[in-house]
Amino acid sequence: MPPTTAARNLLTDNPELYEARFPDPDRLAARWTEDCLRRHDAGPRVLDIGCGTGRDAAHLHSAGRRVTGADLSPTMLAHARLHHPGPEYVCADLHGFDLGRGAFDAVVCLDSALLYCHTNDQLDAFLSSCRRALAPGGLLVGEMRNGAYFLGRTDLLDTPTVASFVWQGTAYRSATTLTVDRTAQLLRRTRVWTADDGSAPVEQRSAWRLLFPQELRHLLAAHGFEVLELHDGAGPRTEPPWQEGRLPGEATDADRLHVVARLTTTP
Ligand SMILES: C[S@@+](CC[C@H](N)C(=O)[O-])C[C@H]1O[C@@H](n2cnc3c(N)ncnc32)[C@H](O)[C@@H]1O
Repeated sequence: MPPTTAARNLLTDNPELYEARFPDPDRLAARWTEDCLRRHDAGPRVLDIGCGTGRDAAHLHSAGRRVTGADLSPTMLAHARLHHPGPEYVCADLHGFDLGRGAFDAVVCLDSALLYCHTNDQLDAFLSSCRRALAPGGLLVGEMRNGAYFLGRTDLLDTPTVASFVWQGTAYRSATTLTVDRTAQLLRRTRVWTADDGSAPVEQRSAWRLLFPQELRHLLAAHGFEVLELHDGAGPRTEPPWQEGRLPGEATDADRLHVVARLTTTP
């Protein structure tokens, strides 16, 4: 049976499945974020944009911060409100949001959510929104794939990666292929899902901007941010992963990019 192409996303439409497929029982992502916030003396008000299931926002809340989690997916937001209470959860689009001028001391954007800004206009709108949201001296903390990793490296590209798992009694199999669209500067993902419940195969497509370290530095400067850190690790999704006490790296060669920037000018 040929796959049908779906606009929906099996993982972000099923937050429980998302957490099961990408477990973070020790809340490494949130602890790494809190470490960045403390290292640079961030104030208490934090916006987690692209908050997903809310697990990071809730951990930051439990660390004493006043957190707003924002996402475009109503399913993710409903899950977050139910399973990760504490923060306020709101619907917002990272392609342009207004949650109040100077309302936050930090904006955090984790697990490549920033790379859903595919075009330069979307990146500009995201950074303008962050600048409006932040109080003077506020921080932007980002954690994402590193576009520069793909320069000259093809190990993650073009060959399907197969994963199988059982969820709620159904066996799922996913075949994921990453390709580089050099013209759009996007990493495109095609994922074909099959399940043993008799349903037809579904093909899902998504993409991330391939953002390069110096390009990010330039964009941040253009929007009034000073880069405090820009490095490839250690972080929550590096190998080896970040541990308490690990200092930020200095290179930007590996497959994750970690950025901390401070708003130096007000609009
Ligand atoms: C890979 S998940 C990251 C979730 C969470 N930050 C984490 O680290 O676990 C990406 C999230 O971005 C959200 N998202 C995608 N496009 C968005 C947009 N334009 N505005 C806001 N959120 C968006 C998705 O709904 C999803 O919850």
